[in-house]
Amino acid sequence: MSASRSVLLIIGGGIAAYKVLELIRRLKDHGIASRCILTKAGEEFVTPLAVSSLAGERCFTDLFSLTDEADIGHIALSRSTDLVVVAPATADLIAKMATGLANDLASTALLATDKRILIAPAMNPRMWEHPATRRNMAQLETDGVLVVGPNSGAMAERGENGPGRMAEPHELLAAIEQALAGETRLSPVGAIGFLGRNPGGPSGAPKLLAGKRVLITSGPTHEPIDPVRYIANRSSGKQGHAIAAAAAAAGASVILVSGPVAIADPEGVTTIHVESARDMLAAVEGALPADIAIFAAAVADWRVAEEAPGKLKKRAGAGAPALALVENPDILATISAREIDRPALVVGFAAETDHVIDHARAKLAKKGCDLIVANDVGGTGVMGGDANTVHLVTSDNVETWPTLPKGEVASRLIAHLAAMPQASETER
Ligand SMILES: Cc1cc2nc3c(=O)[nH]c(=O)nc-3n(C[C@H](O)[C@H](O)[C@H](O)COP(=O)(O)O)c2cc1C
Repeated sequence: MSASRSVLLIIGGGIAAYKVLELIRRLKDHGIASRCILTKAGEEFVTPLAVSSLAGERCFTDLFSLTDEADIGHIALSRSTDLVVVAPATADLIAKMATGLANDLASTALLATDKRILIAPAMNPRMWEHPATRRNMAQLETDGVLVVGPNSGAMAERGENGPGRMAEPHELLAAIEQALAGETRLSPVGAIGFLGRNPGGPSGAPKLLAGKRVLITSGPTHEPIDPVRYIANRSSGKQGHAIAAAAAAAGASVILVSGPVAIADPEGVTTIHVESARDMLAAVEGALPADIAIFAAAVADWRVAEEAPGKLKKRAGAGAPALALVENPDILATISAREIDRPALVVGFAAETDHVIDHARAKLAKKGCDLIVANDVGGTGVMGGDANTVHLVTSDNVETWPTLPKGEVASRLIAHLAAMPQASETER
């Protein structure tokens, strides 16, 4: 390979394999050569010819090909590279990696390599959330495998939504660049990938959360009524996004699950975009395990019982439609009650308009979280505004802070959480 940097790209048998063709092109533009292995199942989705044409060299497919062994044996293939990238990393490939199976060229190369491995999982949300995949991902985390994605959203399968979409080519490229740069702070990661795009933090802030994985929700949720209307709230996402940025600046690997907001994704944070409360819960569950979870999103309590398939029409004399509401899942309570993978420190937010502290205390007890950040949103412009007045409520204490810019609330909160005993534990 003539480029000074190279990756061994293992392409698994998933629908997202087509995105890898674009990745190969982008890698080349960045002076990174790709040598490719296509699995048998991968060949069902992209052809060796397409892969080799883009990569500019033959695509390897067969462990027992004498020519392959004569040219470059599978051991050398796995080592004559700077980084091994698996994309799409199917449930099957992940399981093989976790158990050390080596029954084809891809899995043998993965076992034989002495280089770092970065995987881009891609699968149906149920496969991703299956306990077997969770176990396998936890094992890969222990083994120091780097992970990018998956993102959350609509699947190729009709009507399926949730975590499992492979990271986009530009996200993969960014992850590969960082892995190749050999950032020492690139920590082994779990279910949803962290690559420390901003490992030192922008501000030189103390690295109070170095090595910690922090999951944060932010923004409102949108609950569809029909294809054009939805129930929403005034949350801007400013506070949750500021907390994500502050956690990244404190050295944590941060996953931000954001509802629809008009502000930019924070730097150095893996952001997953969702719409509804149900999407948000699926993305949060898919992002576990985490050491600390901060639920700052203003999740809609209710959604309409039945989303209309077509736009609801005004009909003369028929009056307004009656919208029956049902309760949305309670993300804070659900995660706080988890027996497996409960983050060691779970923080909820309570936006109240009256009896702020009493309601926060009640919420703390009801939800089973460790801390509630309560704020008074009654007519103060907090929702959407740039300042916040918060009370930190635990089972035995209430701490009230002065009105501060949301960025300042965020950095103080991160320092406060880092000092809590739970922050020194890992997830239960
Ligand atoms: C149309 C179709 C799409 C598939 N997409 C995925 C996928 O995105 N992720 C996955 O884990 N498996 C997917 N599978 C199943 C895998 O192809 C199958 O588990 C295969 O054995 C994986 O082989 P590999 O280890 O070479 O990747 C898909 C199967 C079909 C028929």
